[in-house]
Amino acid sequence: MDQLAQHIQEQTAGLSPGSALAWLANAFPGQVIFSSSFGWEDQVITHLIFSNNLPIKVFTLETGRLFPETYYVWNRTMEIYGKPIYAYYPQHEPLEQMVSTKGPNSFYESVDNRKECCGIRKIEPLKRALKGNVCWITGIRAEQSPNRHDMSNVEWDEGNQLVKFHPIFNWSLDEVKTYIKNNNIPYNTLHDRGFPSIGCAPCTRAVQPGEDFRAGRWWWEDQSKKECGLHSVTEIITEK
Ligand code: ADX
Ligand code: SF4
Repeated sequence: MDQLAQHIQEQTAGLSPGSALAWLANAFPGQVIFSSSFGWEDQVITHLIFSNNLPIKVFTLETGRLFPETYYVWNRTMEIYGKPIYAYYPQHEPLEQMVSTKGPNSFYESVDNRKECCGIRKIEPLKRALKGNVCWITGIRAEQSPNRHDMSNVEWDEGNQLVKFHPIFNWSLDEVKTYIKNNNIPYNTLHDRGFPSIGCAPCTRAVQPGEDFRAGRWWWEDQSKKECGLHSVTEIITEK
């Protein structure tokens, strides 16, 4: 593990998620950034950041294809906390080119097309958002997939040259739900309708009881291809 990641791991070991975030914000002023997709894990972290007035920038990748429920909870969160949530949009030229030549739903036709769409709508804006930062906070939890189970709450991200920190990595889904309820945190109502994981509307569907947490994402694809690339470096390393 990179030295910086190791340092962060040592300093945050044993701290609560809120205290760890406060330590990071203080240790790396203006260089800690949190990506939110407005899933309930992310809403817990947003609550910790906003209610403690932590100087951590909260941003989202606005792919243009999110669910109406996601836009609603985004707006509600800004209203409740009175803080900005920064939107990163795709570059219009490659997006216009892709949609004009392949149509608006090309992602269903092949894995390459799907990766092209994720590349334009998520990866390029993500790289722009992360630039110049030392630490990237996410809502990843170990329980979410076998790959994630093998990850650590602090990781060195070689591709983006920064440390990734997952403050609620070891929380169970019940802990997340209880925290949301006890603190009256707004959440995406799709979670109540069988969506454990929420991405873009055309690429996410509800899962059946007992089905895998991520079964509703890119459900038409082969299991091994189902990552959009946001977390691929660390996830591919652990993939077996
Ligand atoms: S994904 O790689 O499959 O899309 P997932 O939905 O599990 O990721 O979310 C894991 C973490 O990635 C979230 O907690 C959040 O930090 C980040 N994330 C995912 N989608 C977005 C998005 N559209 N905007 C910002 N962050 C996101
Ligand atoms: Fe495009 Fe679907 Fe990827 Fe969203 S999840 S960026 S709509 S392919």
